[in-house]
Amino acid sequence: MKFFIDTANLDAIKWAKEMGLLDGVTTNPTLLSREGKDPEKQVKEILKICKGPVSVEVLSLDVDGMVKEAEKFAKWAKNVVIKIPLTEEGLKAIRRLSKKGIKTNATLVFSANQALLAAKAGATYVSPFIGRLDDRGERGMDLVEDILTIYRNYCFKTQVLVASIRNLDHVREAALLGADVATIPPKVIKELAKHELTDIGIQRFLDDWEKLKKK
Ligand code: G3P
Repeated sequence: MKFFIDTANLDAIKWAKEMGLLDGVTTNPTLLSREGKDPEKQVKEILKICKGPVSVEVLSLDVDGMVKEAEKFAKWAKNVVIKIPLTEEGLKAIRRLSKKGIKTNATLVFSANQALLAAKAGATYVSPFIGRLDDRGERGMDLVEDILTIYRNYCFKTQVLVASIRNLDHVREAALLGADVATIPPKVIKELAKHELTDIGIQRFLDDWEKLKKK
């Protein structure tokens, strides 16, 4: 499973890279606005750090506007992926961009049918937002399972990028199901390496070592 980091924070992106956990980056307007900097400059800084796919979202709601923004973003670097919300206009834009060889990430996907349409339009990635489904009392991971089954049934090439990840179970289940990518917020990446028995084990080794020195 590829690890993308779900943030626009440069320090967090560098930190994930140091651990070998930076296969790509996903941004969105909320994450960019959280950094409080010029979004274009911020994305260009991200592109200097990350050589894997970097998703950048369009703000237009109509196909022509989306394609225009996408063509501008795609000029910034070869690894830019255009994030497009799954609407009728979005599908048209994904189709047009895929014909031009521009990579896309169909975002804000909440149903298996939406994911089916994204694949048919030629999206490079599809992003089911599982945490937001959990928030409504649904099981977001069921959606990931359905999408993977549908894509395998028809050999779609669109990669399943699990998004809106909130906890460790989301990461484990995405990997068990065989999702192509998980985009994970820094807070959850931090928790992934932790285990209380690891900490207890280290302390015990250190204590025993001290005892040897005292003999
Ligand atoms: O990758 C999508 C993500 O940024 C949305 O996460 O936590 O706002 O649902 P969240």
